[in-house]
Amino acid sequence: MKAQTKSKKVNKAWLNDHVNDPYVKAAQKDGYRARAAYKLKEIDEQFGLIRPGHVVVDLGSSPGAWSQYVRRRLAPGGAAAGRLDGAIIALDILPMEPIEGVTFLQGDFREEEVLARLQEAVQGRAVDVVVSDMAPNLSGVESVDAVRIAHLIELAVDFAVHHLKPEGALVVKLFHGSGYTQLVQLFKETFRVVKPVKPKASRDKSSETFLVGIGLKHPA
Ligand SMILES: C[S@@+](CC[C@H](N)C(=O)[O-])C[C@H]1O[C@@H](n2cnc3c(N)ncnc32)[C@H](O)[C@@H]1O
Repeated sequence: MKAQTKSKKVNKAWLNDHVNDPYVKAAQKDGYRARAAYKLKEIDEQFGLIRPGHVVVDLGSSPGAWSQYVRRRLAPGGAAAGRLDGAIIALDILPMEPIEGVTFLQGDFREEEVLARLQEAVQGRAVDVVVSDMAPNLSGVESVDAVRIAHLIELAVDFAVHHLKPEGALVVKLFHGSGYTQLVQLFKETFRVVKPVKPKASRDKSSETFLVGIGLKHPA
């Protein structure tokens, strides 16, 4: 009984935070599917990563707020529909409601067959920016979760090395805690410029953070 009361309180507190969250309100107003859009927006505005004409790959894209943001960045006047100058290829294990101009593939990024489909969708084009908001289902066992998180990021780095333009960029979400230092090290070995960033839209309570890598040290 006690546990139930506590969990009800936690749910109520979360709901309160959520309803009063300025980014949730902004997302509703701006027509974004999730407040996550503002995390990428902040990162993009800080580093000037995404520009019209770019080819962008969005890993872990559902429900689609990052793809919506990228779509607007590539459209004349920031339009949510109509002409698009560039290409967006999005991938997620879960389905995603269509976004005009965004090519969506459903599948697990860890599977070779899915990677092959993604490579096919890229059509040999050099990619300007890869963004990954992928987060595995967490087990609560820190060592197990750290391995799962690291695996997804290592795969994203490998994809970036093989598909990015030499001056291209990779943005990944990761979590403070075990494995963080090694992943920063991997980024430093791979990219000329490496910046950790915690956007304001990322909740303080959350251990999530982002790494930005710009310019490949050893293009494939
Ligand atoms: C935080 S959500 C992404 C939110 C998204 N950036 C947005 O703005 O709407 C993380 C996503 O990663 C996806 N994901 C986790 N592991 C994955 C994997 N192995 N392959 C593909 N997608 C994965 C989940 O299904 C989930 O939709």
